[in-house]
Amino acid sequence: MIVNFSRSRFAPPTNIRVIVDGQTVPALADESVAAILLRTCDGATGHDHAGRPRAPYCMMGICFECVAIIDGAASLRTCLIPARDGMSIQRQNGPCPLPDISCQGQAKNSG
Ligand code: FES
Repeated sequence: MIVNFSRSRFAPPTNIRVIVDGQTVPALADESVAAILLRTCDGATGHDHAGRPRAPYCMMGICFECVAIIDGAASLRTCLIPARDGMSIQRQNGPCPLPDISCQGQAKNSG
């Protein structure tokens, strides 16, 4: 099934630009990043750990189906994030590595 999420002809004119996977995309300030992804995707806004296509579902921060990498920060729920001019958005495919939060000097489990 292919769904087209184009903007309504009654929508206000776009006033900012964001970068989605390296391509400049016109958008509205404070429009949700999930809405931008839905409008610019070709069926999936990302993929899960098994490679299955995913897309925003609840649009209210509950389902985590809309996660993406925004300005280098991974796994952010795009339905809760308003767009800003110049924002860098990358579709997230699979899990992203966790940041190194190892504690120096902490005893290691010798198991
Ligand atoms: S669409 Fe459900 S958390 Fe974003």
